[in-house]
Order: sequence, then structure tokens, then C-alpha cells
Amino acid sequence: RRSTFDSAAQYINVTGPHAFSPPGPNDMRGPCPGLNSLANHNFIPHTGIVSLTAAIDASFNVYGMAIDFANFAGILGYLYGGNLATLDLEYSIGGPPPGTILSGLFGKPPGLSFTHNQFEADSSATRGDYFQFNHNGYDLQLSAFTELYNLQQDSANPNYDLDVLLPHRLTRYQQSVAENEYFFYGPVQMLFSSVTHFFIPGLMSNHSAEFPDGILSNEVLASIYGISSDPSTGALSYTRGYERIPDNWYRRPIGGGYSAVNLAADLARMAVYNPQLVVVGGNINGVNTFAPLDITAFTGGVYNSAMLLEGNNTACFVLQTAQQLLPAALQEVEGLVAGLLQQLDEALGGMLSELTCPQMLGVDASMLEQYPGY
Ligand code: HEM
Ligand SMILES: *[C@@H]1O[C@H](CO)[C@@H](O)[C@H](O)[C@H]1NC(C)=O
Ligand SMILES: *[C@@H]1O[C@H](CO)[C@@H](O)[C@H](O)[C@H]1NC(C)=O
Ligand SMILES: *[C@@H]1O[C@H](CO)[C@@H](O)[C@H](O)[C@H]1NC(C)=O
Repeated sequence: RRSTFDSAAQYINVTGPHAFSPPGPNDMRGPCPGLNSLANHNFIPHTGIVSLTAAIDASFNVYGMAIDFANFAGILGYLYGGNLATLDLEYSIGGPPPGTILSGLFGKPPGLSFTHNQFEADSSATRGDYFQFNHNGYDLQLSAFTELYNLQQDSANPNYDLDVLLPHRLTRYQQSVAENEYFFYGPVQMLFSSVTHFFIPGLMSNHSAEFPDGILSNEVLASIYGISSDPSTGALSYTRGYERIPDNWYRRPIGGGYSAVNLAADLARMAVYNPQLVVVGGNINGVNTFAPLDITAFTGGVYNSAMLLEGNNTACFVLQTAQQLLPAALQEVEGLVAGLLQQLDEALGGMLSELTCPQMLGVDASMLEQYPGY
């Protein structure tokens, strides 16, 4: 499919009310460079305490995430990061909001920074694994960013497209297997940590008439990640919370938001690039003990590992598994959030409806218990 470019519609104006303004000491910032940058430009509240609808709208309008996808991410953010006791439909994009001493049934709302294995997952593009960095899975690790950045430093025309991100994804996966004894790469975690790699070219690229499908340069990548480079030495440094949308940046085409169809295509390319990356499982007994999940048993025979290498099957499998597992994981609060679970299910259903998937009735979630990281 060919993209078209509409300069006026795709231009993101970051002057005036949306000029960059770094976070103050009480403003929340966390694991997501997209949300951090949206807060720094006042597309969502600068405090980093965001409503469900604002997170969804800004992801859709500014970064061009398709609406079902944005609903899925936005609702999950609230269900895991928010305050389910008050149902205020707000959550922190970083750590727990200051001054919330909420105890009782659901404890303190964690914010997105503390949603390990629920939303925040191992083998992220630039964030450390929870069990390796003192339970800090939300800050950028400069070593990981630098590994990515080095992949295009010698290129005549730097562009962090999927062909560049896939080797980085493999490196990050191999590091987790070799360094994190609790590495868990379950179906949902594989989905989240892969899709956030895909978001880098998918949502951060700059679009133009010449490159309607977008180009992601060194400067744009560094800016949206809060990285600056020393003009004389080229040394990179990270300033926590300084994620910035550059001037003269143009989003994805209107109506061409990153959707389940893009996800399916990117996952299929990942499977071809290296089939290991779609093998879900985790370390079972220390580092370098990655044991694959038996997909046939897990899905009651609907899928097997060979099938995942074909067409849209990986996307079907992980989205269907998410649809099975996420409501179950949130069951204890179902009475309170039934409406939201319904919306989550609809968002996933909307995504799945864009693909033609085998029928899957259920998964054997107990099989995940063999993984200590789970
Ligand atoms: C409702 C909206 C959103 C929510 C709730 C959300 C939440 C999150 C969370 C929890 C993570 C950590 C996942 C992990 O550890 O792998 C993450 C990572 C990420 N998000 Fe978002 N996100 C949203 C929108 C966006 C948008 C609009 C972008 C656009 C650029 C984006 C780009 C990314 C990227 C690139 C990462 C990977 C970070 C890294 O490891 O380098 N997200 N997001
Ligand atoms: C960008 O926003 C500023 C401030 O609101 C406005 O003055 C300017 O005309 C806008 N630029 C474009 C190209 O729309
Ligand atoms: C985006 O591309 C246009 C056209 O090539 C260019 O003028 C603009 O400077 C680019 N923006 C960024 C942030 O690189
Ligand atoms: C994957 O899904 C897309 C969107 O429905 C469809 O166009 C494409 O043909 C599918 N690919 C395969 C190999 O089934």
C-alpha cells in the first residue's frame, strides 16, 4: 500500500502552547517515550497524571496510533497503573502519584513504571529488565540505546526502519536470556516488548512528500528519546524525562494509523528474520535456560510452533491469548471494572477483526507457572 503525504494535516505544531517544557520535580515520567514526550509538550497534562481518554486521544492524534490500538493500550494502562478503588479513570505515566497514600483493597496505584509483566515487559528496546536493574524497568539504559544508535552511525542515510530494529530486538532478547534469570517472554510479554520495538519506526518516523512512509533519523530518534549528543565528542547522554518532539516533525498519514494489520506484518517479518523471536517461553532455572512454551498444549491444538512462522498467525496467537488472559488476570476486580474490561475486549476484538484468524477457545494459563519470572 502506498502512503500519501498531506503536509498541513500531518504537521505537528510544537510551538506556542505545545512548545517543549521539561518536567518539574513533581511531574511523573516513566517507561514510555511516547507518553513522556506528549506530557512535555502539553498534549497530555504536564503533571504526567493522565486521563484514559487523553492518553488515547493524544496517541491517536499526535503519533498516529490506530484507534483500536490506542484504546487497547490506554485501557490497559489504567487497569494496571491506575486507581481502581476510586475509578477516577486517571493514571500516572511514571511512578505512584505523589500524595496518594491509598491503602485498602487495591493498595497504592502503581503508575505505569511499576506494571512489570503486566504491561512493562522484559527485553524492551532501551529499558532495563526489572530483575536486573534493582526493579527499575522504566528508565532508559544508555548502553541499550547506544547499541541501537550505533547500528546507523556509519550509514550514509541513517534510517531506523524495521530492518534496523529487528537486529536490535534480537540483541535485546539474547541479552535477557543470558543475563536475566527471571526472563519471561510469555505470549503477552512477547507482544508488548515486540510492539514497542515496532513503534520506534512505526510512530516516531518523520514523513514527507519524498518519504511518505517516513524516515527515522539519528536526530529525531535521539530527541524523542531524551538523548543529546556532545557536539564535539559525539558522546551521548540521557536526561530522564526530557523526551522531545522535534520541530518540523510530520506524523503518519491521517487515516493510516499504526494498526493490527501493521502489527501482523511486522510480527511476520520478525518471524522470518529470526524464528527464535516468536518462540514464547522464559528462563526456567537461571540464565541461559530458556524453555519454549508448548504452543500445541497451551492452545488446545489450535496452533503449533511451525504455524506461528506463517502469515498473520503470530499476531492472531498473541492477540487472542491477550484476549483470554488479560480479563482473567483482572478478574478479582471484575465487579468494579466490568465496563472497562468490556471496552478492552472490544478493542482487541476490533484489532482481531482486521485479520483472519483460526478459532481459539481458550488457553491453559497454568502452563505459564513453570516460569519463575511469571
Ligand atoms: C495509551 C497510550 C500508551 C500507553 C498506556 C503506553 C504504555 C507503555 C508502557 C507501559 C511501556 C513499557 C513497555 C515495555 O516495558 O516494553 C511503553 C513503551 C514504549 N512506548 Fe508506549 N504507551 C502508549 C503510547 C505510546 C505512543 C503514542 C508511542 C509513540 C511513540 C509509544 C512508544 C513506546 C515505545 C517506543 C516504547 C518502548 C520504550 C523502550 O524500551 O525503548 N507509546 N509504553
Ligand atoms: C503553530 O502554532 C503557533 C502558536 O499557536 C501559531 O502561531 C502558528 O501559526 C502555528 N503554525 C502552523 C504552521 O500552523
Ligand atoms: C521532516 O522531513 C521534512 C522534509 O524532508 C524536513 O523538512 C524536516 O526538517 C524533517 N523533520 C525533522 C524533525 O527531521
Ligand atoms: C494478513 O492480514 C491482512 C489484513 O487482513 C491480509 O491482507 C493479509 O492477506 C493477511 N496475510 C496472510 C498471509 O494471510
